Amino acid sequence: MQAIIYICTCNSQANLEINFMGTKENALFFEPYNLNGLQVSNRIVMAPMTRSRADNPAHTATELTALYYSQRATAGLIIAGGTFISPEAVGVINVPAIYSKEQVEGWKLTTDAVHKNR
Ligand SMILES: Cc1cc2nc3c(=O)[nH]c(=O)nc-3n(C[C@H](O)[C@H](O)[C@H](O)COP(=O)(O)O)c2cc1C
Repeated sequence: MQAIIYICTCNSQANLEINFMGTKENALFFEPYNLNGLQVSNRIVMAPMTRSRADNPAHTATELTALYYSQRATAGLIIAGGTFISPEAVGVINVPAIYSKEQVEGWKLTTDAVHKNR
């Protein structure tokens, strides 16, 4: 099915409109939404993407990781990339892991930055 997506800028409420084969639907893109008990500020969901910003021997998320996610903090929901849960699981260079205390602290830089910038 073909869909034409455009953002209506004709009023102060910037709603996304989707035209499915001639049937226009107002998607309320920027409206708050309750996602099965998780209250999100809009319906924009960021898909997980592998970001290789943990350029350190400890595979720890750094300020650079925090910067990437904080720049996208206004999305309703961010799904961060996959993270390694054990040394054996590490399989991609510079991807942050989460099996040590130091790595957990590294990820906190990101969650703190996102919450500050949302
Ligand atoms: C852990 C994980 C990491 C991912 N990393 C990337 C990535 O680096 N780049 C990318 O384009 N898609 C990545 N994807 C896939 C996207 O999140 C998304 O699901 C994909 O683009 C599928 O979108 P589509 O179904 O609209 O094609 C990743 C998915 C997962 C689960």
